[in-house]
Amino acid sequence: MPLTVIVGVQWGDEGKGKIVDALSRRVDIVARYQGGANAGHTVVVDGNEYVLHLIPSGILHSGKQCVIGSGVVVDPEALISEIDHLSGRGFSIEGSLAVSGKAHLIMPYHKMMDNLSENSTSSVKIGTTGRGIGPAYSDKTARLGLCVNDLYHPERFRNRLEAALRPKNALIENFYGAKPLDPEPIYEQYMKYAERIKDLVADCGVTMRQALKDGKEVLAEGAQGVMLDIDHGTYPFVTSSSTTIGGVFSGLGVPPTSLTEVIGVMKAYTTRVGEGPFPTELLDDTGEKLRKEGGEFGATTGRPRRCGWLDAVVGRFSVELNGVTQIALTKMDVLDAFDEIKICTSYEVDGKPIDGMPEDPELFAKATPVYETHPGWKSNTAATASYYQLPDNAKRYIERVEELVGAKASIVSTGQGREATIER
Ligand code: IMO
Ligand code: MG
Repeated sequence: MPLTVIVGVQWGDEGKGKIVDALSRRVDIVARYQGGANAGHTVVVDGNEYVLHLIPSGILHSGKQCVIGSGVVVDPEALISEIDHLSGRGFSIEGSLAVSGKAHLIMPYHKMMDNLSENSTSSVKIGTTGRGIGPAYSDKTARLGLCVNDLYHPERFRNRLEAALRPKNALIENFYGAKPLDPEPIYEQYMKYAERIKDLVADCGVTMRQALKDGKEVLAEGAQGVMLDIDHGTYPFVTSSSTTIGGVFSGLGVPPTSLTEVIGVMKAYTTRVGEGPFPTELLDDTGEKLRKEGGEFGATTGRPRRCGWLDAVVGRFSVELNGVTQIALTKMDVLDAFDEIKICTSYEVDGKPIDGMPEDPELFAKATPVYETHPGWKSNTAATASYYQLPDNAKRYIERVEELVGAKASIVSTGQGREATIER
């Protein structure tokens, strides 16, 4: 039963969209299992750029079956606008997109609470995408959430909406001093959304398990990255879902025995958006140069991304935690411009070398990188499609990364286009 999982091994924005697009050709189903419209997966097809937030990146292969699993939090407004945007650009979702009835809905008050909390002086600023992700997952675990299936039982929907909104309004009004929300217009709006997405709703767990039983190839598309995982990331500076391997099985409703490959997508350097510790962050001209060469501005919020050298401690942690069987190393061409390239091989805390990654967030925040320095290749690798054509120093860099993180880079990406992909 062939299930391949794509997981981001850093802090998100590793280039997962491009890798999913490249592999989609060979699979029958592409499925998202967690996160929501906080993701920004960029795919370039024939020079045209598409940014997908909620719909699996496989949708750009005409007729490919795409699934939004129960572990995803669905903002119907974002979903409908993405569908309309894609159809305006010639991509139909007709018959190819399914949304799990069990997926939870992002409600207007989730987005509002996300932004109120971020702007409040009394809570820790996370630097979220403002898409309502944290509050929606909070409601899900607090058993106050509304899911896609509820949309088709109007009375149930109304009752659950009122029950969920009451405590929010108390907070909105009394704690944040903002204007409470009226459930009625929300109800009316969501009933309209219900009508629009009705044909997409399915029991996706059944679909997925049947597909695997029939020997179909499934590609699970992760959003965010390992270091943003709710359990294993740099808490509290994380997203609110399980971005690591376990999220696949709960978020799609498939058994772990179906798993055959785990592809860890890793950028040839590191970026992070939002707050939180980032040991290899460069606050100097080199960091600025990485941002410029790599076009490191958020695909969802447009924020400049924080940039730094590749962190092999993070890489090894992610490979071990997820059982990564192969690495897809992306944006190699961005390093073309550098005389020297560094890799963080371990950390020091308070001037003392430590083993691996500190579990305590305060210690992690104090970790300083120990680097090894590699000579650059100073030549153009953009759109190189064969490993043998890469400069020797680039090959040495890749092989050293493989050794440090403990997995083979079976895919190396040298640009945004489909052609700029090396498979080894
Ligand atoms: P893709 O799928 C990079 C970050 C936010 C913030 C934290 C919590 O494109 O890799 P949230 O809105 O999820 O509550 O924000 O997580 N974040 C991402 N960073 N890429 C993403 O997705 C991200 N999704 C969330 O910047 O620090
Ligand atoms: Mg992103």
